Amino acid sequence: MALVPATSLLVTGIGELVTNDPERGDGVLGLLHDAAVVAEGDRIAWLGPSENAPAADERLDAAGAAALPGFVDAHTHLIFAGDRAAEFASRMGGRPYAAGGIRTTVAATRAATDDDLAANARRLLTEMTRQGTTTAEIKSGYGLTVDDERRSLEIAARLTVETTFLGAHVIAPEFADDPAAYVRLVTGPMLAACAPHARWIDVFVERGAFDDDAARAVLSAGRERGLGVRVHAAQLEPGPGPRLAAGFGAASADHCTHLTDDDVTALRDARVVATLLPAAEFSTRSPYPDARRLLDAGVTVALATDCNPGTSYTTSMPFVVALAVREMRMTPAEAVHAATAGGAAALRREDAGVLRPGARADLAILDAPSHVHLAYRPGVPLVRTVVRGGQVVRSSAFGSSPVDRM
Ligand code: NIG
Ligand code: FE
Repeated sequence: MALVPATSLLVTGIGELVTNDPERGDGVLGLLHDAAVVAEGDRIAWLGPSENAPAADERLDAAGAAALPGFVDAHTHLIFAGDRAAEFASRMGGRPYAAGGIRTTVAATRAATDDDLAANARRLLTEMTRQGTTTAEIKSGYGLTVDDERRSLEIAARLTVETTFLGAHVIAPEFADDPAAYVRLVTGPMLAACAPHARWIDVFVERGAFDDDAARAVLSAGRERGLGVRVHAAQLEPGPGPRLAAGFGAASADHCTHLTDDDVTALRDARVVATLLPAAEFSTRSPYPDARRLLDAGVTVALATDCNPGTSYTTSMPFVVALAVREMRMTPAEAVHAATAGGAAALRREDAGVLRPGARADLAILDAPSHVHLAYRPGVPLVRTVVRGGQVVRSSAFGSSPVDRM
């Protein structure tokens, strides 16, 4: 059978190109101006000044707009059924958030068919794509039985390579009186059923979820099965999560909303990425994580959506970037870097979050002249075109007919 030759795509007329390669352009974002990118198959073959661009099979003119690597959303919980709008509304009326709300979604998820779960996750993945995300991690964690966790991961694995087993999200309701037995289930039969479909293991280390000892058991078992480690750490109060992540050499400690000085040092020394999820603080009306303190200490910071029906029902990386700039004292450049290269670091991916020859040809092209507009124009759908693996997968934020009058 003859191989179909890979087609090539030239994106030209990029007014400002974020490469995230400081050797190639200015500042932490490695900015180039009047640039072009050539994709061959799913990889970048060339990038440089527009005027030197080689020809390609197809051509896309960015007409002076800004382009950046597609967002890398390194923390999502897309496999679930139902929503928790009522819980959100009552929280906005003054009720606090507690980890136990997860059980509402567990009941809905168990009752859903595989097709329902897959359709819901695909719908959310489509929303993400429209907003410039080209790589997404997806966790299980709303099944909490061997079968429901396994099918959650099977569905997730059809949608991404970055799948995470989160059987240790909360103690399953039927084990409320015997949490140790649930930890044995997670580390035994559940892990055995899930590991073939997962790249990562995660645990929610928090009051009302898993304590230090239980989390250690879960992470050790996952690591023995060859899974990479990530941790839900210090979301609601200070706790052992960040140091556990450091001790296990985790790729990422996520949330990191309540860190001690020792936690910050431990994350830095162990080179654990701090994945901050400010949309969760937005939706639980909680204090934001201190990104400045982490950046100033030399910790690599990632930004992600945490998309889930309980604490953060958004798929929008531009929204997260805007929050990080406005509420967490990150500069626009730092926030865009954290949402692209930072997310890639949190997933230990060298082929994403950066634009250089050999990297994945994943680009978001904006309806704006600069990356700064992502925070400067909050709530505006600024992602015009998305290229994923060298293919245009989304085009035009506003449709084809401009509005003349209202
Ligand atoms: O990341 N922290 C744990 N898990 C989710 C919340 C899940 C839920 O409330 O359904 C989070 O915020
Ligand atoms: Fe989460």
